[in-house]
Amino acid sequence: MTDDASKTTAPQVDAVRPAKKKNKSFSAPKGVLDYVPSRSATFVAVREAFAQNAAAAGFGHVELPVFEDTELFARGVGESTDVVSKEMYTFEDRGGRSVTLRPEGTAGVMRAVIEHGLDRGQLPAKLSYTGPFFRYERPQAGRYRQLQQFGVEAIGVDDPALDAEVIALADRCFRSIGLDGYRLELTSLGDSTCRPQYRQKLQEFLLGLPLDEETRRRAHINPLRVLDDKRPEVKEMTAEAPLMLDHLSAEAAEHFDTVRSYLDALGVDYLVNPRLVRGLDYYTKTCFEFVHDGLGAQSGIGGGGRYDGLMAELGGQDLSGIGFGLGLDRALLALEAEGKSFGPQSRVDVYGVAMGREAKAQMVHLINQVRQAGLRADMSYGDRGLKGAMKGADRAGARYALVLGDQELEQGTVVVKDLAAHEQVDVALVDVVQVLRRRMA
Ligand code: HAM
Repeated sequence: MTDDASKTTAPQVDAVRPAKKKNKSFSAPKGVLDYVPSRSATFVAVREAFAQNAAAAGFGHVELPVFEDTELFARGVGESTDVVSKEMYTFEDRGGRSVTLRPEGTAGVMRAVIEHGLDRGQLPAKLSYTGPFFRYERPQAGRYRQLQQFGVEAIGVDDPALDAEVIALADRCFRSIGLDGYRLELTSLGDSTCRPQYRQKLQEFLLGLPLDEETRRRAHINPLRVLDDKRPEVKEMTAEAPLMLDHLSAEAAEHFDTVRSYLDALGVDYLVNPRLVRGLDYYTKTCFEFVHDGLGAQSGIGGGGRYDGLMAELGGQDLSGIGFGLGLDRALLALEAEGKSFGPQSRVDVYGVAMGREAKAQMVHLINQVRQAGLRADMSYGDRGLKGAMKGADRAGARYALVLGDQELEQGTVVVKDLAAHEQVDVALVDVVQVLRRRMA
């Protein structure tokens, strides 16, 4: 209805009715992002590029629940981690079960592998996944309460070549979307033969320091986390702390050396960071993080590692695994920080503009044919007039506009406007699809 029409047809009684109160509108929950066009197109393109790289390396997709038994994360990720102790979205369902929105993907994948007996098939079981994860963190730029990851897990084989493949795959994922302003940091967290002794050594060292109460408590529960403390005074105090890399068992040291030699052979650059600490408890041996220089405090764009005891911890066989999680939200921020774009820069290739009822009927048909020919196409709706409709073509980022009015209908032609070259030609209606296909090829 136009404004004029509403003026003439609105019943008089409306004027004396009290103005209707506007309903409250809503915002997304705190720390939770919406992806809307055009950023959402980049999001999908990045996610698909990552998935393609994983598929090319033989990873099969798994689609898993976003909530699981709370116990799975408590046991899998570790009670002493911030993720489990402070950040989980845990609630009781109507049946009285404690469930938790998944804070990460590895524990759920492992649960599914055990449940479906994938560990009894060909090994390693190579699986990829993507979707939202939930952590009640303090929101800030690059740190969200619903975060999006793309991840892979390769389960069942303890082979340094597999560690190198997984790390190289993560690197390829980032490179394939055009990122290069990041570094790969690598370390080994040792195995069950050397880690306990090292942990005790580190703990003794830390408890001899004048730490504040909270940090002292952490040194008791999870001493490695203290090495990750960003406060300068703590950093200074722990500068001489014993390092895991100096206390590796012969087997863990050989594993680490072999991973490194494979990465060298693959041409994947890395930096050994003996103080690298991950926020999840299940890691053993190889551990890594991709750190981007343009993201400020939340600089980890992806990370992962080997987790040799996890499957047994979750009631399965005693098999090892390695994987990574890449942050999709942060990958987008990294692209923006590097001033790069990825994925389609337009919504459609072709945009139809029809003037008049008959022309519109013809255009509906024509646009349908263009889509069937494999081109992306949209058209103007709502009788906006030529100028408004052409603006729509521009906004959609179309390469070609198809204009159809009475004159063209009479001649059986369509005006094909090349919006980039600012040229136009009349093309017979029957030939339009073919002409567009040729030009877009
Ligand atoms: P993570 O390091 O906790 O590892 O998360 C992986 C990536 O998810 C991070 O590097 C970061 O890019 C992104 N991320 C994490 N938290 C947030 C947040 N609050 N907001 C935005 N992005 C975030 C894991 O989750 C492991 N499951 C990875 C893994 C798989 N390890 C072995 N297999």
